[in-house]
Amino acid sequence: MIRIAGFPLVWGASTLLGLALVQPPALSAEPAPYREMERPLETYIPHASGDRKFSNTYRYWKDPKNLDWRLAGNPDENWKLNWKFMDPPFNQAIHGGHFALDRGESLYKFLNRGGSFAACLGAGKGGLKGLRTSYPRYDKTLKRVVGLEEKIQICGAIEGRVLENGSYDNSAISLYIAGFSKGMPMRIDVSKGPLKEAFERGRRLYHTRAGRMNFACATCHIHNVGKHLRGNTVTTPFGDVVHFPVYRTKYELQSLQLRFMECNLDTGTQPLLPGSPAYTDLEVFLSALSNGYAVTVPSERD
Ligand code: HEC
Repeated sequence: MIRIAGFPLVWGASTLLGLALVQPPALSAEPAPYREMERPLETYIPHASGDRKFSNTYRYWKDPKNLDWRLAGNPDENWKLNWKFMDPPFNQAIHGGHFALDRGESLYKFLNRGGSFAACLGAGKGGLKGLRTSYPRYDKTLKRVVGLEEKIQICGAIEGRVLENGSYDNSAISLYIAGFSKGMPMRIDVSKGPLKEAFERGRRLYHTRAGRMNFACATCHIHNVGKHLRGNTVTTPFGDVVHFPVYRTKYELQSLQLRFMECNLDTGTQPLLPGSPAYTDLEVFLSALSNGYAVTVPSERD
């Protein structure tokens, strides 16, 4: 008993002594920033199939043709479909996403009347086809990684138009551009260079706890997948990116980074502005987890 009770005291005293000898306390030093990780800090295969290591639901949702209708019809099981097929065959009706597409088209055509808007966005010979699938990308002019919506804001400004990242018009153009990649798989290369660094930062951010509830993204989306949260069932982060910007019945149109803001607000965490470096890192991370999964727009969520 005595030995057990005495142990922490001895340990504490020797540690204090050790610290005092090695490092005299600096009075003016700033307190270290709060950083606590959600453990384990998982490693991820940068492809939608990486889900196999986590919820292993990829087999249910990877192929729309093999969709298991029994899961779709069962409220306790349909989270396994990762909500990727809310569009046809779930919803064949016209919804707000289609109206946003029309808005995006007219804005895009106006901005690109001289051809310079498309060039600024990085459209090559193939035009807009496939452009969505290679964002976020490293931008040589800006010398950093950018997401598509941030680039739309920058290129819009060059054409003399304010298109704030996260605004309806910005997301509508993004949706219109994504429409040209419908059915094409995401393909961002995070194996080297600035994108690899952004992916790694995004992975760490995804596991960093923050806010009033001290949750990390991974607390819910990795370690509580399939559980109910206020009427929502949490899905894995694999394959999410391809259906954004999404028409939400409670907003008009939601870009991916607005969704980050929503999850931050839901958990009492200070949200950041769309286009902030931390959100772009998260977008790179999540986009790589959608690699191999086909762009599905316009989509709808409640
Ligand atoms: C309290 C748990 C919780 C936390 C923490 C959380 N989310 Fe969410 N998130 C949800 C729920 C619930 C949904 C809606 C159901 C779903 O699609 O998973 C959601 C949806 C999403 C979606 C949309 C998924 C889709 O395909 O429509 C993305 C993207 C997302 N979250 C990203 C994040 C990021 C990034 C963070 C960290 C900054 C985060 N979330 C933190 C619970 C959480």
